Amino acid sequence: MQTRVRKAIFPVGGLGTRFLPATKAMPKEMLPVVDKPLIQYALEEAQAAGIEEFVFVTGRGKGAIEDHFDRSFELEATLRERSKLAELEELLRWVPRAGTVAYTRQQEPMGLGHAVWCARHFVNDEPFAVLLADDLILSKQPCLKQMTEAYGRVGGNMVAVMDVAREHTKRYGILSVGKENGPLVEVKGLVEKPKPEAAPSTLAVIGRYIIQPQVFAHLDKKAIGAGGEIQLTDSLIPMIGQMPFHGYRFEGQRFDCGDKVGFFEANVAFALARPDMGPEVRRIVQNYAKG
Ligand code: UTP
Repeated sequence: MQTRVRKAIFPVGGLGTRFLPATKAMPKEMLPVVDKPLIQYALEEAQAAGIEEFVFVTGRGKGAIEDHFDRSFELEATLRERSKLAELEELLRWVPRAGTVAYTRQQEPMGLGHAVWCARHFVNDEPFAVLLADDLILSKQPCLKQMTEAYGRVGGNMVAVMDVAREHTKRYGILSVGKENGPLVEVKGLVEKPKPEAAPSTLAVIGRYIIQPQVFAHLDKKAIGAGGEIQLTDSLIPMIGQMPFHGYRFEGQRFDCGDKVGFFEANVAFALARPDMGPEVRRIVQNYAKG
């Protein structure tokens, strides 16, 4: 039996330059899809996967994220006074329990690998999940839950993967693929942001990971990779062949909410999936499509 995944890291230290001006004073991760900030979708996905401790790697100007996950006594009292009890119950449902959340700052946005390294003392010596809030997934079963179930059988490192168009390989970490077993794909190699002609496949890593703590020994070296950043994938590569390492083809649709068009599409898809507003949104979208 593998050690259960109890901790998750949420790297939210990035600048979100693709989403300016919205992200000038507001964290990208607080952008709402319909009525919920991206980071709350990620937190609830982790909760659904049985995660017990939540570590946020923040940066300057990200205070709204801490406030969002705190109790809000004034708001709670007002909702109670106005008998808005359903809203109050919903508000309290997902707020993490005291002492289960930690925040640490990435003083400079030096890359995803560096952000994960900043959380090393909170994770210590156990496997952990990493969730990138700007990769939003609409699925029947939360993506990380799909992965932790598979992880219970195979252990090791696991990354969520999906097929992408060959001309887009330079946006992703791309797998070199071994044996396939249902949704599990054996990882033979991994290359960060390859040009289409150099990509070993079109199977791309997206923002859900289960990682063994040995990765910190590699991240310690702070090697600079693609784009001049410390890449997480570069520290996963030396672990290939040392332990089980799988890509997991998750069920669901992923939206790149760090990109304006991807974010817009996510809003349409999530609104259409909502029973309270889906039918009305469908009518509106159909009307625009006619024009
Ligand atoms: P992105 O590649 O989307 O970078 O990061 P970014 O800086 O947030 O956005 P752009 O490209 O400038 O628009 C993917 C994830 O990794 C986190 C981001 O917050 C995001 O969740 N990240 C990235 C960090 O926490 N620290 C970093 O140094 C870089």
